[in-house]
Amino acid sequence: MRPVIDGSRLSDQLEALAEFSDPASPRITRIVFTPPDLKARQWLKQLCGNAGLVVREDPVGNTFARWPGADELAPAVATGSHIDAIPNSGRYDGTVGVLGGLEAIRALKESDFRPKRAIELVLFTSEEPTRFGLGCLGSRLLAGALSPGDAARMQDNAGTSLDAVRAAAGFEGELRNVRLPGGHYHAFIELHIEQGALLEKQGIAIGVVTSIAAPASLRLTLRGEGGHAGTVLMNDRHDALLGASEIALAAEKAALSTGAADSVATTGVCEVFPGAINGIPSAVRLELDIRDTDLNRRDRMIGSIGASCGEVARRRGLEIRTEVLNADAPAHCDPIVMDAIVRACQTSERTFTHLVSRAYHDALFLSRIAPAGMIFIPCRGGVSHLPEEYASPTDIEAGVTVLAHALAELAG
Ligand code: HGY
Ligand code: MN
Ligand code: MN
Repeated sequence: MRPVIDGSRLSDQLEALAEFSDPASPRITRIVFTPPDLKARQWLKQLCGNAGLVVREDPVGNTFARWPGADELAPAVATGSHIDAIPNSGRYDGTVGVLGGLEAIRALKESDFRPKRAIELVLFTSEEPTRFGLGCLGSRLLAGALSPGDAARMQDNAGTSLDAVRAAAGFEGELRNVRLPGGHYHAFIELHIEQGALLEKQGIAIGVVTSIAAPASLRLTLRGEGGHAGTVLMNDRHDALLGASEIALAAEKAALSTGAADSVATTGVCEVFPGAINGIPSAVRLELDIRDTDLNRRDRMIGSIGASCGEVARRRGLEIRTEVLNADAPAHCDPIVMDAIVRACQTSERTFTHLVSRAYHDALFLSRIAPAGMIFIPCRGGVSHLPEEYASPTDIEAGVTVLAHALAELAG
């Protein structure tokens, strides 16, 4: 069985998908359920239909394209990723796993391979946290890591409820029907760009992911006293932005002080009120992203940031409220899937190495209901979440070839 990947078809489709962006490409912005996302979804469903796959969507917009197997009662093998993109970002994050997964299925269909188990491509809704403040919204609901009740209470950054947003996008139905039970899938593999530079530095074609870091997000609201920038004396101030600045530095210090490279902390959002040059900041909203492959280290970082908040609040006369948006466990990839990926690399004569994923992915949650694994391919300079994000057609084709072989083994 030799699946032949049509690299130019895949490259053309990645370029076509990049055109669904607002503002227009080359800087990609494709926020979940906005017009570019909806147009991209329609276009993708058309591609899946043209490939002879059976397409369905669930109430939150997770989209499934299925190649039925000989035994339709046997749990399917799934692959997939996301197409939503944060503002001002790149064209390969997520999309390589969706269009590459489709290409792998097409290549298998065009070969003499016939699956015993169905092979299903999945497009997960809202992997990026941009609109609803929580990453992996669709895969969390699907895997039971987010309750339908909590999801229904979610609002986007304009204050519109998830239910209203998804209904306007044409997705009806009860959120409780998104949930898929354990055992629904025999295995899940996600193909993704590394979003790091290890593979490129070592000149290795494929990353076999062993574990996916444990992500946590905090929202801090700091309240102080506003006032006139000219007339309030320095010793009389309770400046919320200076307190926020100390917290951002404390987060950096918490990550650096673990001594582990996998400990990372980022203050990615800082909104200042009133935001006037001559008005002392009276309120600040901070959002922090804290991750580690080791759960205890990650939680110790959160603890130390919390202690810093208490100290800064007392010393500066501020009120600091902390909300944990998510604090997820890490995922350990399943040996069955990792071994299938290794054998696929050997069969297709691709070099490979095992590595961790510091980015989170939908596989983080699929691993809760099925044996899951990930295939990484290099991306230039490790750059991602930027327009300069780039993966070469050769590297993409290698990843899709390995994916096709691994899917065939798991579905055969
Ligand atoms: O932030 C992440 O790790 C993913 O790219 N959404
Ligand atoms: Mn991303
Ligand atoms: Mn991604």
